[in-house]
Formats: sequence, C-alpha cells, structure tokens
Amino acid sequence: MKHYIDFHRDVSFEDLDYLLDTAIDLKAKTKAGIEHHLLKGKSLAMIFTKSSTRTRVSFEVGMYQLGGQALFLSNNDIQIGRGETIYDTANVLSGMVDGIMIRTFKHQDVEDLAKYGKIPVINGLTDDQHPTQVLADLLTIKEHKGTLKGLKLAYLGDGNNMANSLLHACAKAGMDISVASPADYSCPEKYVIEANEDAKVTGSKIVMTTDPFEAAEGADVIYADTWTSMGQEAEKAARVEIFKGYQVNSKLMGVAKSDAIFMHCLPAYRGYEVTEEVIDGPQSVVFDEAENRLHAHKAILVNCFLN
Ligand code: CP
Ligand code: NVA
Repeated sequence: MKHYIDFHRDVSFEDLDYLLDTAIDLKAKTKAGIEHHLLKGKSLAMIFTKSSTRTRVSFEVGMYQLGGQALFLSNNDIQIGRGETIYDTANVLSGMVDGIMIRTFKHQDVEDLAKYGKIPVINGLTDDQHPTQVLADLLTIKEHKGTLKGLKLAYLGDGNNMANSLLHACAKAGMDISVASPADYSCPEKYVIEANEDAKVTGSKIVMTTDPFEAAEGADVIYADTWTSMGQEAEKAARVEIFKGYQVNSKLMGVAKSDAIFMHCLPAYRGYEVTEEVIDGPQSVVFDEAENRLHAHKAILVNCFLN
C-alpha cells in the first residue's frame, strides 16, 4: 500500500517519473474531454483542520473526474474536533472509504493515521511538509522549462513546510535549490540532510543561506511563500519585520536568469513576500501552478489507489 505523506520517503525516483508522466497524461485527457474513470466506485475522505481553497477543490474535483467521490470532512463536522482519537478515526474510516487525504497541524497525526489505518493516506499539508504542492510545482516547471534536471530554484523566506518539501522535491528531481531565510528561520537540519541524500544520487546542489540575492543569482525559478503560515497569525507583525528583506520584487528578479519564472503556492499577500508587479507580471506562472494541483493530485490518487 502506498502512502503519500513525506516526499523524501514515499516518492521513489521511479514514482516521481510515474507521477509526472501520469499527471501530464491525465491533464491532456482532461483538456481533450476524454473520460478517465480510473477510480470508479472509490471514495476519498478529506479531513481538514486548517483552511484550504486549492487543495480541497483539486482533490474533490480530481476524484470526481476519476469517477470516484470525495467527502469533505472539516474539523467542525467530524468527531476529531471533539477529541476522538486518530486511532479510532483511522480504523473507522478504513472500513468505509478507500483512502484519506488530511490537512492538519501536527505531522505526527498524519503518520499515526497511516500507521493505525488500513488504507492509503495523503498529506494535504502539515506544519512540516506540503508534498502534494511540490509535485504540481515540478509539473509546472517541466511544462515551462521542458526539463527539471540541472535547473536552479531559489526559495526566499520562511524555512517552513513549503521550503522543506521543495528541498525534498528539487533534490529528487535533480534540480539545484538555494534557500535564503533569516538565520533563526532556516529549514530544520533533517530536511537538508534528507535532500542531500538524494542530491548525491541526482547531482543536484543544495545551498542554505541568509542572503536572498546570493540565492536568487542565476536562478531559473524564484519561489515565495507567505511569511505567516496557518497557525502563526499572532506572530504576523513581528514576522513582517523579520522577513522584509526577503521580498521578491523587481530588483530581486533582476539577479535571476532573464527568463526565470516566478512561483508561489498561494495564497499570496501582495506587498509582503511578493510585489504586485512580480506576481501579476509576465514572469509569474502562479495560476498554471494552481491549476496543476488538479492534474498532479489525480496522479497521486491513481498511484496510491491502484499501484
Ligand atoms: N497552496 C495551497 O495548498 O493552497 P490551499 O491552502 O488553498 O489549499
Ligand atoms: N506555508 C503556508 C502554505 C499554505 C499553502 C501555510 O502553511 O500556511
């Protein structure tokens, strides 16, 4: 049984090729109006204890397009919100649905759901990782650049769930990655070590720095995320001060390659981590990236449910 919880552990090099090829194939079929009911009769429970626009809509529509159905279960509606254990939830859902997608705070809760349940579990974002987003990101880069291997991605800002998963994904795909964060906000060492394990195989180069211009120099992809992730709202004012030197603006884009693309997982906060002129400008591919969540997630669902 395949889970999709931790990109480094759960996505092999072969899986990555399969997932990208399948996403490209299912995207083409969707655009051509060709039916692809690969998951006819299957059900996906989607647990959300944090907000979502893209992840919810893409998994829900994705299951529908694959001929199955998705159930949206928010914290307010299911008994997890009233203290039912992960153990009981995992066992109950295992008897009724074919897979679980969960977005929540503690990464360990997702691991526990997989440990106690008998069905595939997909991580729709935790405080530590956002592995479904980075598959859509790789698909988007491949579409715009024709390849992944040998490209350089620069991530500017908080060493958060996005940065951790981008380290995993770039190293697995053979892309160089430079992460620039303030000293106390760098990615946990564990993610740098794991990325370096794959980088040894793929030849990608991992650089952790505090200097945003050093990171962005010669990059093919510039990536930003919010400075205040879900759950950190009380720290917002302090974070705006801490991260203000890491804004992606025209000056910063100017040190990247002239054909560099700008990416952001969204939701974006214009005037903070990115200026309006960059995110709404000609180098931005953020809406392709958002759309590709749908196609990438369908590939993940097929891989988890059928392989
Ligand atoms: N990028 C992303 O995960 O968006 P949502 O929070 O809207 O799902
Ligand atoms: N780092 C952000 C990503 C949102 C998709 C958060 O966790 O809120």
